[in-house]
Amino acid sequence: MAALINNTKSLWRRSIRLKDNQQPDLTKPGSSELPVTLAVIGCGQRGKAYTRYALRAPERCKVVAIAEPRPKTRQHFADLHKVDRTLVFDTWEDLLAASAETISTIGKRLADAVLIAVQDHMHAQVAVAFAAQGYHILCEKPMATSVQDCIKITNAVNDSGRIFGMGHVMRYSPYSREITEIIRSGALGELINVVQVEPVGYYHFAHSYVRGNWSKEKSSSFSLMTKCCHDIDLICNWFYPAVPVKVSSFGSLKHFRKSAKPKAAGSATRCLECAHEKDCPYSAKKIYLDPVAQGDLEWPAETIVDGLPDIENITEALQKGPYGLCVYESTNDVCDNQVVNIEFSNGTTASFTMIAFTEAICDRQTRLHFSHGEIIGDMRTFTVSDFRKRTTKVHRPKNEGGGHGGGDLGLIRSFVDAVSTGQQNLLGTNASEVLKSHLTVFAAEKSRRTGSVVDCIAFEQEARETSANESM
Ligand SMILES: NC(=O)c1ccc[n+]([C@@H]2O[C@H](COP(=O)([O-])OP(=O)(O)OC[C@H]3O[C@@H](n4cnc5c(N)ncnc54)[C@H](O)[C@@H]3O)[C@@H](O)[C@H]2O)c1
Repeated sequence: MAALINNTKSLWRRSIRLKDNQQPDLTKPGSSELPVTLAVIGCGQRGKAYTRYALRAPERCKVVAIAEPRPKTRQHFADLHKVDRTLVFDTWEDLLAASAETISTIGKRLADAVLIAVQDHMHAQVAVAFAAQGYHILCEKPMATSVQDCIKITNAVNDSGRIFGMGHVMRYSPYSREITEIIRSGALGELINVVQVEPVGYYHFAHSYVRGNWSKEKSSSFSLMTKCCHDIDLICNWFYPAVPVKVSSFGSLKHFRKSAKPKAAGSATRCLECAHEKDCPYSAKKIYLDPVAQGDLEWPAETIVDGLPDIENITEALQKGPYGLCVYESTNDVCDNQVVNIEFSNGTTASFTMIAFTEAICDRQTRLHFSHGEIIGDMRTFTVSDFRKRTTKVHRPKNEGGGHGGGDLGLIRSFVDAVSTGQQNLLGTNASEVLKSHLTVFAAEKSRRTGSVVDCIAFEQEARETSANESM
């Protein structure tokens, strides 16, 4: 513990902005001379994605502490970011306890901010605990898996008065930002209707929502929440300041169930022993083993083993783990197709479709209909038609790379800017707004389950009353 405290003191000397109640006197983003220090909770896919920025812009932010239970993943991450070994922890609870220790002994946190990149069901507990210690927080989406937990996080963050970022990365891509600017400029008149399709991708869906982390509602959440809360958030942002007033939704788990299993697959429950495997687009051999055999060690193969994938460990994972199971014999229960309709307070409308069965992987197809124009986009380029000028122009927003059309980079950069200047508005949203868009997603799911149109205002009121009663 002495080493931890000494190390924390020395980190703190290099990063004096950790003082309680101290507001940086910096006036513009990027003006800090000191990098924002980050503690990463969960060093998996998303922890890695955001912290590439720390390697790319070390003068802006630095990873100084991590928590990760998988030994090889932890070691690799610690080495990559040169994290002092006194600040490498197995679990978030260990990191939190060490932080409590340094707060009580020397009055300092381990870092300026925590990046919460553990699985969905853990977000609430982790976010509330670190908010109580006064950390700035960047939390992966979804905020949490229940309405009440989302409210708890919002209250904890608002009470702490710290910066809060949400992994709604699509808001932060150059593509979305340019479209948002056109909407706000009024150049095409009033935005009247949005149609958005989220094409999840056939093998991506099989990987994540049939075999993987988001396949069961009980251990994560319903698929509209886990996959599409940022679509709904983006749509709500586009219509702002109008708010959703009514929502309806339909959807089902149509295909990935036993009744759709091809006869030729017989009684096989794993792809490696299935006679039909060669003809199945969802074959685990095709998704994981074949790419690794061809030297492709990246997603999705890298996510199913600890450390670097190779033929041996992937084969073992397919023989024993969930990623080798037949998609018709898995334990999944989340929808593979869902539609949502939203009416906003100013009479405008949106429709959204989440669908598993696409060649495209997550490249949203979007149509925005204005009183005097139209935008049609595919998340890479978009075409603007101006009815008044009778012009049509193709826009190709500059993408600096990284996931979600540059949204991952856009979010972490905005978060670091917000922390280094103390300006929440640089994120363009806050915990209360994030809560509101999540409430719309919960309301849509209620509609799907009950077969009724849900009144969003009454839904929110009821949620807040329940929360208030629970905390009495
Ligand atoms: N913003 C987006 O577009 C987007 C995309 C994908 C996933 N996500 C969300 O990001 C989060 C992380 O997803 P992922 O794909 O990185 O998952 P992942 O499984 O790759 O990473 C999670 C990591 O947390 C670690 N972990 C587990 N228990 C822990 C503990 N007690 N303490 C510390 N670490 C622990 C795991 O070992 C793992 O390395 C999820 O909430 C997911 O829904 C968001």
